Amino acid sequence: MRDLKGKVILVSGAGSGLGRCTARRLASEGAELILLGRRLAALQEALPQARHQALDHADDAAVAAFAAECPTLDGIFLAAGQLLTGSVQSSSAGDFDRMIAANLRGPWLLCHHLGPKLQKGASVVLVGSNIGLRAIPDSAAYSVAKAGLHMLAQVLALEWAPRAIRCNAIAPGPIHTAMVEARLRESPDPKGEIERLAAVNPLQRLGLETEVAALAVHLLSAESAWTTGTVIPIDGGATAVF
Ligand SMILES: NC(=O)c1ccc[n+]([C@@H]2O[C@H](COP(=O)([O-])OP(=O)(O)OC[C@H]3O[C@@H](n4cnc5c(N)ncnc54)[C@H](OP(=O)(O)O)[C@@H]3O)[C@@H](O)[C@H]2O)c1
Repeated sequence: MRDLKGKVILVSGAGSGLGRCTARRLASEGAELILLGRRLAALQEALPQARHQALDHADDAAVAAFAAECPTLDGIFLAAGQLLTGSVQSSSAGDFDRMIAANLRGPWLLCHHLGPKLQKGASVVLVGSNIGLRAIPDSAAYSVAKAGLHMLAQVLALEWAPRAIRCNAIAPGPIHTAMVEARLRESPDPKGEIERLAAVNPLQRLGLETEVAALAVHLLSAESAWTTGTVIPIDGGATAVF
C-alpha cells in the first residue's frame, strides 16, 4: 500500500521525459508536486496544478534562494540532467564542466540546500545512469558525472539515516525520451541506432518512461521503507551482461 496522498514531493527536470512522467504519476496518486526546471512553460504544461519553479539547478545562489522559500518536503526526485557525447580526448574542459554542472553539481546543491527541509521518513531518489556503472565509449564526461551522482546517493543515505530519511539512485539504460531523440537526430541512421541501443540488453528493447516512473514511485513511497543507499539499474538487464 502506497501512502502518497498529500505528500509534498519536489521533482527536477519535470518539464520533459522521466521527470514529467514521474511527476504526473505521483500527482495521480494524490501527491502535491513542486516542479523544477529551467523552462517555466514546460513545467506549467507538464502539470498545471503543481507549483512551478524556473531554476538552473547548478546556480548556488538561485538554489539557496529557492530552498529558503520551499516548504517542508516528503520526497525529492532529481531527474534533471543533460548528455554530451565525446571521449576524454575529444571533450574540452568546457564540456566536462557542463556535464558536471548538469548531472552532479545541480543535484548536490539541491540536496545541500533542501536537506534541512526533509521531513522524518522522507525519501530522495537521484537519477543516474547505467553508463555510470559500466564504461562505454563516447560518453566520458557524462558517465563520470553519473558515477559521482551514484556515490552522492550512498553518502546521503548514510548522512540522513539518523533522521530516518532514505536516499537511493536509479541507473536507467536508454529510454525513449527527448534526450534519446536528440541523439537520434544527430545520427545518420536513426533506425539502426535504436536497434543498436536495444541490442545491448537481454530484453532487446528501449525502456519506457512509465517503467522508470513505476520504480521511482516505489522508492519515493513507504513501500520501500527498508531500501536506502542503493543504486538500482533499470535497463533490460544490460548491466548484468555488458
Ligand atoms: N533517457 C535516457 O535514455 C536516460 C538514460 C539514463 C539516464 N537518464 C537520465 O534521466 C534523467 C532525465 O532524462 P530524460 O531522458 O528525461 O531527458 P530530458 O527529457 O532531456 O529531461 C531532462 C530535464 O532536465 C532539465 N534540466 C537540464 N539541465 C538543467 C539545469 N541545469 N537545471 C534545471 N533543469 C535542468 C531539462 O529541463 P530544462 O531544459 O527546462 O531545464 C529537462 O526537462 C537525466 O538525468 C538523464 O541523464 C536518461
